[in-house]
Amino acid sequence: MIALGIEGTAHTLGIGIVSEEKVLANVFDTLTTEKGGIHPKEAAEHHAKLLKPLLKKALKEAKISIEDVDVIAFSQGPGLGPALRVVATAARALAIKYNKPIVGANHCIAHVEITKMFGVKDPVGLYVSGGNTQVLALEGGRYRVFGETLDIGIGNAIDTFARELGLGFPGGPKIEKLAQKGKKYIELPYAVKGMDLSFSGILTEAVRKYKTGKYKVEDLAYSFQETAFAALVEVTERAVAHTGKEEVVLVGGVAANNRLREMLKIMCEDRGVKFFVPPYDLCRDNGAMIAYTGLRMFKAGIKFDLEETVVKQKFR
Ligand code: KG4
Repeated sequence: MIALGIEGTAHTLGIGIVSEEKVLANVFDTLTTEKGGIHPKEAAEHHAKLLKPLLKKALKEAKISIEDVDVIAFSQGPGLGPALRVVATAARALAIKYNKPIVGANHCIAHVEITKMFGVKDPVGLYVSGGNTQVLALEGGRYRVFGETLDIGIGNAIDTFARELGLGFPGGPKIEKLAQKGKKYIELPYAVKGMDLSFSGILTEAVRKYKTGKYKVEDLAYSFQETAFAALVEVTERAVAHTGKEEVVLVGGVAANNRLREMLKIMCEDRGVKFFVPPYDLCRDNGAMIAYTGLRMFKAGIKFDLEETVVKQKFR
């Protein structure tokens, strides 16, 4: 079976085509602005404009025609309302025109589910991106969020810090590079509440310290990463202890960070659990993960009628 997936919860439009075993195509376009941040209306316009060319590109890359697709999947949320509506409308149009079944997939779950294409069975997922920070896993036949950020996403926190330092957007890779040169740990607020996290305090204090001019930026970047990542590892470890699961996966754009990977790997080795990070194009927002999750849902007998995909939109 072949599924086509459309991702468009935020500033990336992604179209992916997958079979049960592999990714046949995974193409993207991300709307970026100098300052970072996303305007929902602009993201929606971006997705509407690029849907057709990206769809063509994906079909060409997969060497198939749209008639060969068995199920159409789309990112149903969470995300920006106007962007979600464009994607859902496009998926419905394709489903009607080509008479295909349609499935709405949860964006956060899709980030974790795609790891199953690589043999991962039943993981605890740490999903870290610009807007989202969650620890989630299947329990009792449903995905549960064990912990999440109570304010901003870790990627957003890093990007804002980088912007204050005048480093531009996206800040993640630049902060990572700076942090490698940092030597001295500077105390920053560490906030884990139960299994939830908070990053706004770290951000405010790091910016305040930077503005005093008394600290080296390398040391601040290093301390920012060490503090925020330690909190992410702690919450992930708690979820592993709570669920008794034997696999951890790291997904989302911030999964590119080598220090975060290293810290999680150490925790997993200590606990004797497996650790896996998918290739970057399947970590960031992408259509292949939506296609794959849609395919698994469809095969499990989950069916959506067209009405349902419209009604659900009203509540976002
Ligand atoms: O999942 P993603 O592509 O989509 C959004 O949620 O926007 O993630 C993008 C995020 C940005 O915040 C970016 O700064 C961050 O991933 N990122 C990184 C690194 N590479 C990208 N954060 C830390 N270290 C990196 N090497």
